[in-house]
Amino acid sequence: MKVLVATEKPFAKVAIDGIKKELDAAGYEMILLEKYTEKKQLLDAVANVDAIIIRSDKVDAEVLDAAKNLKIVVRAGAGFDNVDLAAATAHNVCVMNTPGQNANAVAELVFGMLVYAVRNFYNGKSGSELMGKKLGILAFGNVGRNVARIAKGFGMEVYAYDAFCPASAIEAAGVKAAANQNELFKTCDIVSLHIPATAETKNSINYEMVGQMKKGGILVNTARKEVIDEAGLIKLMAEREDIKYITDIMPDANDEFAKFEGRYFSTPKKMGAQTTEANTNAGIAAAKQIVDFIQNGNEKFRVNK
Ligand code: 3PG
Repeated sequence: MKVLVATEKPFAKVAIDGIKKELDAAGYEMILLEKYTEKKQLLDAVANVDAIIIRSDKVDAEVLDAAKNLKIVVRAGAGFDNVDLAAATAHNVCVMNTPGQNANAVAELVFGMLVYAVRNFYNGKSGSELMGKKLGILAFGNVGRNVARIAKGFGMEVYAYDAFCPASAIEAAGVKAAANQNELFKTCDIVSLHIPATAETKNSINYEMVGQMKKGGILVNTARKEVIDEAGLIKLMAEREDIKYITDIMPDANDEFAKFEGRYFSTPKKMGAQTTEANTNAGIAAAKQIVDFIQNGNEKFRVNK
């Protein structure tokens, strides 16, 4: 069996070593395609492989067409909006993610960026503290739960809303359940987004939604670019000089948020999950899932029907 690891944004070396060890033990061959710059490189690399491990790399119908022997794609991470699920199903290819494996890394970055923001991006001026502030977590999945755990350590008052998770489950985790998304934005000083990019969530974080936040509100986005109505948020930030936006979304070449100096921060690339630990956890889980799928037909983490 040939397994391609195709990562435009490479894993840490130790993660690659771990993936190789898992595949070697099964007698599979690992092929590595890192830091590719053109789709053609990916199309060539997939030609003879049985399985692919990716991160945010795009797997569309063209890639699936080019991968004649492909049986499984594992997205080493949480969000699988970069894979055309319908096309994969049509090509009889199983798609999986590795839920939870990189969640702590993303959650820690939320607080790294938050302390930076409330201390005025370390400009030397008096800032504020997280203790006692109300933090709203939008979607209470693996990342949201890790954010809640860390927020409690900071002494924050933690709220969450999740359209797919009952209030009782949120409260069982020691977090206050907001009745709905609007209430979360109205109540909290800081809102951290952990929703996937779906047809329902796209552009849902818009002018009206964020505009409900109290004076000095901070929006944190370690989810996806697509969930933000960027034009709406830019309009709001132009009108309200108190709102801050911090994110790990890679900025556009012509980044319109950059004009909000002192109120906007973005990492240069999507890097919430960019830790040795997250790479290792997610990469090894992906390799194990491939072996278990091919040898035993285990489809536990399958995300396409
Ligand atoms: C995820 O969906 O798992 C995160 O956004 C991490 O994505 P990455 O693997 O491209 O860093």
